[in-house]
Amino acid sequence: MKTAASTLSRNAPCWCGSGKKYKKCHLGKEQKQVLPPEKKPKPKERNVIIKTEEQIEGIRKSSQLTKELLDMVEERITEGVTTNEIDEWVHQETLANGAIPAPLNYGHGQGRRRMPFPKSICSSLNNVICHGIPNNQALQNGDIVNVDVTCNLNGFFGDASRMFIIGDVPEKTRELVEVTRECLELGIAQVRPLNTLGDIGHAIQQHAEKHGFSVVRDFAGHGVGVHFHEAPQVLHYGQPGKGEVLRKNMVFTIEPMINMGRYECKVLGDGWTAVTVDGELSAQWEHTLLVTESGVEVLTA
Ligand code: MF3
Ligand code: CO
Ligand code: CO
Repeated sequence: MKTAASTLSRNAPCWCGSGKKYKKCHLGKEQKQVLPPEKKPKPKERNVIIKTEEQIEGIRKSSQLTKELLDMVEERITEGVTTNEIDEWVHQETLANGAIPAPLNYGHGQGRRRMPFPKSICSSLNNVICHGIPNNQALQNGDIVNVDVTCNLNGFFGDASRMFIIGDVPEKTRELVEVTRECLELGIAQVRPLNTLGDIGHAIQQHAEKHGFSVVRDFAGHGVGVHFHEAPQVLHYGQPGKGEVLRKNMVFTIEPMINMGRYECKVLGDGWTAVTVDGELSAQWEHTLLVTESGVEVLTA
């Protein structure tokens, strides 16, 4: 993941959602919120973890809770709702199910350059590619928004996200959302033992570019299950037959981020919010997947 380049302008609304101008709110204060120095960064998981049957059962349950939380969001989301409200629904319902929202405080102790993630979901609106922070802005007719939910249930992680279209959008916007979903599905169709990560990336890239869209390079899918983010990185572009070979009982996400315009991103001064450099729309869909003997099980479906 990228780290912050301070690109939020002084007069822009503050990233924290207070509604105040950035300069009157968090400008210059970000460093103070950051982490106590005693925490050392955890060593990153470098090797792919082939899951045991017990782990798979735990990840399956966590992934099913993630799916149910997204179903709840899908039922309730509508024009006028704020992303803070969606965050609150998911936060409360996650706890009510005996789980912890994995995004909340994520990144704590992993370096002092940015604040830990302050909310329980990511909500990425319009030109936001990923890692948008919920705030008090109400969803409006014509918006598209990604809601990304990750549960930690008994130490097992399930990670998924969906797009929601608010009211009426231009045909081209609907196409971006649909093609991105197809990209995820075509990626999933490549998941089976002895296929490679490159097969997945290639299928996604071909489809996105065929429609004149671009694939974000700076963020990737990832191993998941006993940690929030594990090896391998799952790129959403690539060449057939290249990259790591898939093996039974690997668990990872596919989560293509597809842009209407150019693929370049930048991260705002909050250290999280990734936006398109050209200001155009971006869409994303995500599932957690298990490689089975004969193919794939979509754990968050
Ligand atoms: N759920 C995101 C993913 O798909 C990660 C969010 S990290 C957070 O990998 F800290 F921003 F929550
Ligand atoms: Co993910
Ligand atoms: Co996610």
